[in-house]
Amino acid sequence: MQHNSRWHIMETAGQIALAAYQQIIESAEQAITEHSAFKLVLAGGSTPEKVYRLLAQADTDWSKWFIYYGDERCLPVDHADRNSLMATQAFLEKVAIPDAHIFTIPAELGPEQAAKKYQPVVASALPFDMVLLGMGEDGHTASLFPGHQHQEDELAHAVYNSPKPPPERVSISAKALSNTQQLIFLITGANKQEAVKNWRSGQVLPVAAIAPKSPIDIYIDKAAYYP
Ligand code: 6PG
Repeated sequence: MQHNSRWHIMETAGQIALAAYQQIIESAEQAITEHSAFKLVLAGGSTPEKVYRLLAQADTDWSKWFIYYGDERCLPVDHADRNSLMATQAFLEKVAIPDAHIFTIPAELGPEQAAKKYQPVVASALPFDMVLLGMGEDGHTASLFPGHQHQEDELAHAVYNSPKPPPERVSISAKALSNTQQLIFLITGANKQEAVKNWRSGQVLPVAAIAPKSPIDIYIDKAAYYP
């Protein structure tokens, strides 16, 4: 497991979302003061959606925010299961972030082409200010799945045969996701406990390959936590 991880164990997904929201806003204020921009990577999943609904109400300088996605599902742009559609409806369409600052993964083009197009986007964004990630019950994060092999130096990977539907996806690499000032994991639900146990006991898992220089913050509910 990553050294220096900070585990924040909470009762409910609502409390997790609020705590993460507060850290994101603080991080944004700091980044905007320091370099006049806040580069945020969004995650898919159910807990992040709660965070996005809170962000939609925030009072901040939206003109300085830049949005990226940790992963995307290869589906039509308007498909209900697209991470970008969820983030747009919960958050992005409700705030004044300039359209040119929103870097959606063109996953509708298919894994190969979309990953190729997203690599230069990631290259010009690095280092990120804040990365949000979820974790699946098999220890996957973003669309980095156990047993999948990728070129380590790629900034974005084409993903086939995902065990979580849909099978075709695009993911920012572990190396690029780790190139961030701050990183937050949002983990809820009893079905995650086994993966948390494995992660904490040092197993090789995609989630364990995320290793920024600074400590990571893991917001987790009691049901998912394993001491
Ligand atoms: C996606 C993801 C994936 C997700 C986890 C946790 O498929 O959209 O990016 O990595 O974050 O599977 O999802 P939940 O929070 O919904 O359990």
